[in-house]
Amino acid sequence: MQCLRSPSSTLLQSLDTAKHTARRLIPSQRIRVVSGTAHFYQNKQLEVYASRETKRLTLRQLIFYGRSINEDRLIKSANYVRTELPVRIAHRLRDLQTLPYVVVTQEGIAKVYELYWSAFEKFRRYPQINTVEENQAFCAFLRTLLDEHSTVIPSLSLGMSLSSPYLEPERLDSFMRRMLVSRISRRVLAEHHVALSATYEARKAGDKRSNDHVGIIHTGLDVKKSIQRCTQYLRNRPLDIDNDFPPDKISKAEWSEVIVDGHLGTKFAYIREHLEYIIFELLKNSFRASRKAHPHENKLPPIRATIVAGGNHVMIRISDQGGGLMIPQIQSPSDLFSFSHVRNATRLQAERLGALRQVSTNPRGVWATVHEQVDNWQQTPDEFQRSTVSETEDNLNPHPRLGIGLPMSNIFATYFGGSLELVSMDGYGTDVYVRLPRLGTNLELIEV
Ligand code: COI
Repeated sequence: MQCLRSPSSTLLQSLDTAKHTARRLIPSQRIRVVSGTAHFYQNKQLEVYASRETKRLTLRQLIFYGRSINEDRLIKSANYVRTELPVRIAHRLRDLQTLPYVVVTQEGIAKVYELYWSAFEKFRRYPQINTVEENQAFCAFLRTLLDEHSTVIPSLSLGMSLSSPYLEPERLDSFMRRMLVSRISRRVLAEHHVALSATYEARKAGDKRSNDHVGIIHTGLDVKKSIQRCTQYLRNRPLDIDNDFPPDKISKAEWSEVIVDGHLGTKFAYIREHLEYIIFELLKNSFRASRKAHPHENKLPPIRATIVAGGNHVMIRISDQGGGLMIPQIQSPSDLFSFSHVRNATRLQAERLGALRQVSTNPRGVWATVHEQVDNWQQTPDEFQRSTVSETEDNLNPHPRLGIGLPMSNIFATYFGGSLELVSMDGYGTDVYVRLPRLGTNLELIEV
């Protein structure tokens, strides 16, 4: 059955069908009571998909399956993605439908809801893939969706900040966590499949080069090199990035040095963009804190990044002398991961909301940071360096902080069962401990 609907009517209709408790509150002029049948059918479909369990994977499964990719495996992978993504999206759509009306209609949230409905419908209707040519078309379809969804995180963050006064902090944060982990998981599956397809096509065309990637997973990721790559990028920025450094100091001072020590030869199989997202955000915070805590010193105290390869985990500790967290609005360091203004008062700051509004409509603006731009998984490190540096030039301008980096780093670290902990030594500095699974045997931590 073909459903004809305007984007904004979808949300209202689904709330209607779900007999949302707050329905009485919907201003009458906003309700478009259509026949109801089409949407009833749609919501029935949603329920069918939302009642299915997700087929969660481990990194190791993704590697083993993709290692010897052939036509048969590629087609199976395509159909797995085609059938698994609508299930994962359906769970989140149901989750959105259970939010209070005042939240779900909030700027940002409503936009995400519409994007997910549209993606759900497209996946649900996508025909089975049987040939390599059909898979090429499917990859083009995935790339378009990945692009269309590029502003989901700032939109969600904006919407949840605006909704913060209407939701318990626990509920808000657990909802956000489910949304963000699920989003990472969907993008991993889609991007992995697109990358596997590219490898398959390259091999078919005679490319015999050995590859240190299986899909999007780097099989021998060098932790020290990732730290150095992020350091080099961050240290190349002007010191007065926030426009708040004493002008007389700018010409002489430079960013802290980063000393890397510990098990320097550590390599493991992981998604490089996830590791570098985390390192990039943590180092960025440490650089900024060190500079702010020592405004009159030309030589800022170093930041130490220690790598330890344990039996089951790779651990990274980043220690700075940036004075510790000491943020008056924050009671415990983990509150920095919260999207609720009750735990983290910065969430409702007008400047931050304005910046989120801007990036959620313009992904090439401040949101175009090093990790967000790396969606071409086939790039060599040199190409990566060039493209990220050139694409992030906008970022060299001062801009209000979005407050997304730390919570997202926490979500990235925990996605395959790792952890991220902050320890503030108030008045001296901050230590951050990141623990990432080394064996790849943990299932994705997505909640239903
Ligand atoms: C997202 O980025 O939120 C997605 O769900 C991506 C997926 C539709 C390919």
